[in-house]
Amino acid sequence: DHGGGPAGPAGHAGMHGGVHTGGPAVDQLREPPGPADVDLTLVARGGRVTLPSGRVIDGYTLNGTTPGPEIRAVQGQMVQVRLVNADVAEGVTLHWHGYDVPAGDDGVAGVTQDAVLPGGEFVYRFRAEQAGTFWYHSHQVADPQVKGGLFGALVVTPHAGLGEVGDVPALTHLYDGRRTVNGREGDVAAAGAPGQRVRVRVVNTDNGPVQVWVGGAPYRLVATDGDEVDGPTPSTDSLAITAGGRADLEVDVPADGSGVRVEIGGSSAVTFGAARPPTPRPARELDPLHHGTPTALPFDPDAADRRFDYVIGRRPGFLDGTPGLWWTVNGAMWPDVPMYVVREGDVVRMRIENGSGEVHPMHLHGHHAVVLARDGVPATGSPWWVDSLDVADGHSYDVAFVADNPGLWTDHCHNLAHPAEGLTAHLVYE
Ligand code: C2O
Ligand code: CU
Repeated sequence: DHGGGPAGPAGHAGMHGGVHTGGPAVDQLREPPGPADVDLTLVARGGRVTLPSGRVIDGYTLNGTTPGPEIRAVQGQMVQVRLVNADVAEGVTLHWHGYDVPAGDDGVAGVTQDAVLPGGEFVYRFRAEQAGTFWYHSHQVADPQVKGGLFGALVVTPHAGLGEVGDVPALTHLYDGRRTVNGREGDVAAAGAPGQRVRVRVVNTDNGPVQVWVGGAPYRLVATDGDEVDGPTPSTDSLAITAGGRADLEVDVPADGSGVRVEIGGSSAVTFGAARPPTPRPARELDPLHHGTPTALPFDPDAADRRFDYVIGRRPGFLDGTPGLWWTVNGAMWPDVPMYVVREGDVVRMRIENGSGEVHPMHLHGHHAVVLARDGVPATGSPWWVDSLDVADGHSYDVAFVADNPGLWTDHCHNLAHPAEGLTAHLVYE
């Protein structure tokens, strides 16, 4: 995968599916074969693609569409997806963004598997233990492939279901610079009866953050990156969703029959009920660091077994022999970036600092981290769980997680142009 998806430089270093960590090879860390509850085949193709809006772009499809089919499972079910590459010359994979799958199914070309070449296939299997909003995308030359549409939604509903609450996935993406929701430009009308509560699952598949707000009713931010918020309170603020991140918003459709608009990026909206004009973006922003009710964490972040720094910078140098201005991690350029070594069961604390001049949406595979502090200011709200976190220039975050998923995991920027420019490091189990 030379030329770089998130693992671009790593792939170039010649790592393949058989990579040995201290434990078993990554490709041995897989679910054994067997029957599955959700079982589908996704066929990837490249070329001219007609979007639901009618616009034609150069891109990719899965089973003939972009976004690809929504994959939906009930918590506890076994999910099996057979990826077939019809004709994508540079190869494809599927990564389950935010889902803590076994390492061998993580879909990182050059790290956990080789890219699936034309005529080839790869079968992914994982048990859907966690309910929430996720997505999948190719992790081979990921910047052009994700920009071009090789992705889809992954929704896992709780055992108990959502009750009477309506469930509306809203995958937002810029195709050739034009904002879409579920592949459509402009407004998308969704089903929601007057008085009904609806959950809008916003998934940001872009390289940069998107602002979301609601006109016509307050909303509650009920989940971030697939984890429920404790004690969410009604808000009318704007909410930033980082690249790769998800936010579930619950809205009560007004009983009087008036309309609601969930504004996405200012040019698209998911609408319920009667038509209403677009709502200007509120000046205030909701800060998940101080939102909801604090509750006990399942581990003690003050008793950390490992403490790491992930300091992002930038300097001139050579990457793969090409001169340029490249990203650095802890002062070093690819491939001298850190391998964060952990042992299963460790409580890991990480300080992410960014002095590089640009925002970086940092994404850790295979684990969910809780945000402890921003710029040294401690969190006061509900535990804020993330797998994708915008780290703005000049800012720092302290996060913590439990090393509970053995293997080799990439921890990279989800502005997918950046990992190919060296902004990627890895977590490895000894
Ligand atoms: Cu959504 Cu490593 O990626
Ligand atoms: Cu970046």
